[in-house]
Amino acid sequence: MTPLVDRFGRTHDNLRISVTDRCNIRCVYCMPESVEFLPKTEILTFEELVRLAQVAASLGIRKIRLTGGEPLVRSSLWVLIEQLAAIEGIRDIGLTTNGILLADQALKLKLAGLKQLNISLDTLDPDRFLALTRRTGVESVLQGIAAAQDAGFERIKINAVAIKGFSEPDIVPLAQFCRDQGLELRFIEYMPLDAKDVWERSKVLLMDELIASIESSVGPLVPVVGQDPNAPALEFHYADGSGKIGFIASVSRPFCQSCNRVRITADGKLRNCLFAVDETDLRSLIRSGASNETLAQAFRNSVAEKWEGHEINTSRFIKPDRLMHSIGG
Ligand code: 5AD
Ligand code: SF4
Repeated sequence: MTPLVDRFGRTHDNLRISVTDRCNIRCVYCMPESVEFLPKTEILTFEELVRLAQVAASLGIRKIRLTGGEPLVRSSLWVLIEQLAAIEGIRDIGLTTNGILLADQALKLKLAGLKQLNISLDTLDPDRFLALTRRTGVESVLQGIAAAQDAGFERIKINAVAIKGFSEPDIVPLAQFCRDQGLELRFIEYMPLDAKDVWERSKVLLMDELIASIESSVGPLVPVVGQDPNAPALEFHYADGSGKIGFIASVSRPFCQSCNRVRITADGKLRNCLFAVDETDLRSLIRSGASNETLAQAFRNSVAEKWEGHEINTSRFIKPDRLMHSIGG
């Protein structure tokens, strides 16, 4: 079948599936304190997700990442991973989790065929974790990280969202912790997908500022040569060879020109961009008996309509109606 190439020549081989909009914490940059979650009947079943992934694989999707909300609140997620890993064409399955429930599940996930593990952790300090996530749990995340290392995950990435006026005290401790533990830290610039419009441009801690504080307190950084042009993170080595660190500079250096991703939300809407305002309702199609060809055409049409890039840095920017927890990042 024709691969998913858009008007700008970008080939899409990467699918992000949000398996739930629920979460066991409440990061301030992602969702409000009280949220109405989707009713269970509106969430795609594993069977429906596998069918969509099969169609996507037939269109050239090679990598799948599971996101949330918090994907591990969905029961027996490893069963889904096992089924996705068995699809012809799928080479790589990743998971982005907050790590709270990871300690119990790490080994099952690994055995099911999960390859890439990203764990979100913005601070090591319990009080600051509570301020940021409105919940306790940093110890569980740390246990989850240790369990993942024991389970044999090789390149574990730690995602940290950096907010100006809040995150400064966390940058250096996080960088040191990750370097000591052999974890790859990746700072993510704060994006306007948060609850209640608390985002402001002045609250974005920019990649250059992050690099400056790491270089002055942890050690000099050298860009990694031969980076994957489709990877959103710009990667650096510590000059002494003791570890790597990356920056996802969505605001200061958008990577839209090499975007290779499409997304399916927990309620089965296909989104051709994190910031898309339009969606394609795959759930209605699948629940009304659509053929694989009809589903494939829906993917192709969505990719054909994809815009050139987000416009966060222009006055034309329109914030999508959905918040981060219901898109999956
Ligand atoms: N800006 C940037 N990153 C965000 N995430 C959640 N909300 C935002 C935001 N507003 C990140 C989480 C997690 C991933 C799923 O998305 O920290 O790492
Ligand atoms: Fe939950 Fe992730 Fe959103 Fe935090 S960022 S509230 S962990 S979904």
